[in-house]
Amino acid sequence: MKLIGPFKQIVTLANLPLRGKLSDEQIDIVVDGGIVVNDGTIQEIGNFETLKSENQNINIETIEGEQIVLPGLVDSHTHICFGGNRANDFAMRNAGKTYLEIAESGGGIWSSVQHTRNASEEELLKTLLERINFLISLGITTIEVKSGYGLDVENELKMLRIIKKAQGKTEAKLVPTCLSAHLKPRDFEGSNPEYLEYILTEILPKVKEEELATRVDIFIEKSAFQPEESKYFLLKTKDLGFDITVHADQFTPGSSRIAVEVGAKSADHLEATIDEDIEFLAKSDTVATALPGASLGLGEKFTPARKLLDAGAIVAIASDWNPGSAPMGNLITQASILATFEKLTTAEVLAGMTFRAAYALGLEDIGKLEAGKKADFVTFKTDNFQNVLYNQGSLNAENVYISGNQVH
Ligand code: NIG
Ligand code: FE
Repeated sequence: MKLIGPFKQIVTLANLPLRGKLSDEQIDIVVDGGIVVNDGTIQEIGNFETLKSENQNINIETIEGEQIVLPGLVDSHTHICFGGNRANDFAMRNAGKTYLEIAESGGGIWSSVQHTRNASEEELLKTLLERINFLISLGITTIEVKSGYGLDVENELKMLRIIKKAQGKTEAKLVPTCLSAHLKPRDFEGSNPEYLEYILTEILPKVKEEELATRVDIFIEKSAFQPEESKYFLLKTKDLGFDITVHADQFTPGSSRIAVEVGAKSADHLEATIDEDIEFLAKSDTVATALPGASLGLGEKFTPARKLLDAGAIVAIASDWNPGSAPMGNLITQASILATFEKLTTAEVLAGMTFRAAYALGLEDIGKLEAGKKADFVTFKTDNFQNVLYNQGSLNAENVYISGNQVH
């Protein structure tokens, strides 16, 4: 058992509700606080001096200078296992080239598939761990990681096995998701429904057998999978016992409705979601995940997070870090920019990067700082937690703790 502190402010988020809009007056802050950690779990949070006098012989990890604490951040949507680089796509897009022109000149998702297939396992593991370490350095302690650049049995399993291997080499909690339904690969001889059937019969049973993932994702979009075939696929994956998440309404509306109908844990993107479907999402338990990194990477509009929150939805914010549409990877920068454009309160942004994102991943032991939760937290060298979003990502995390141990 140990006591960590003193901290100028501990932003616990403990009493914030799961859904809907939040005001900053609702944020719970413990001033001059300390955190008692026992066996990786938070035992107690309170005034540092009081905790010290109540626990006479406790080990104390003393914090120098003024620091504030937030719950460890949760990035609930990433594609950080990939080979190669798509800087040329980015440059071409900005030079006015269309999606088709970029794909025809060798870019797009298919180019990342080829690079990922050709990359050695060592190389993929090394770059994945580098990206994980970058996210940890921002204060992110739980990271969802998708497959989806393999797109056949051999390579999807290769990706998921590498993600599993990475879990053995990092303190961060990784949540793997099978995104074999990212795109029908060019070398698959058959229709979209046939490829989805191939995933159901050839890939998912092996994913299950090797315990590589418990979640399945699909990209529903004109250029990827169509609504009806996707719905059939998702219901089948559910029968196999997987949790579901969907890349929904990125450019074309309609698929968030499917996500809700099949009981998906989350519907992510939603840049094109229509008002009627915002209401539908808001009445469901499907988390609406904004991915401002994709809006910034593509120069497209933001997810209507304000409308979603006002309607009562559970809104998470994630980075979507990937080589194509969202190459930045800095969740704090992205979330604070989303806040300025969508007019989100600090409480809404912090909730979106913590317990609301955790809910999308089905994790209840993280995202808030309170007794019984995992001792995952991040500190910043400042006397006011508002500075974290105000500095738009340029105030670096000072210390990062996972299960009560300092990892950064
Ligand atoms: O979330 N929208 C589909 N998938 C990714 C992009 C992946 C890529 O371009 O490589 C996304 O934006
Ligand atoms: Fe994505």
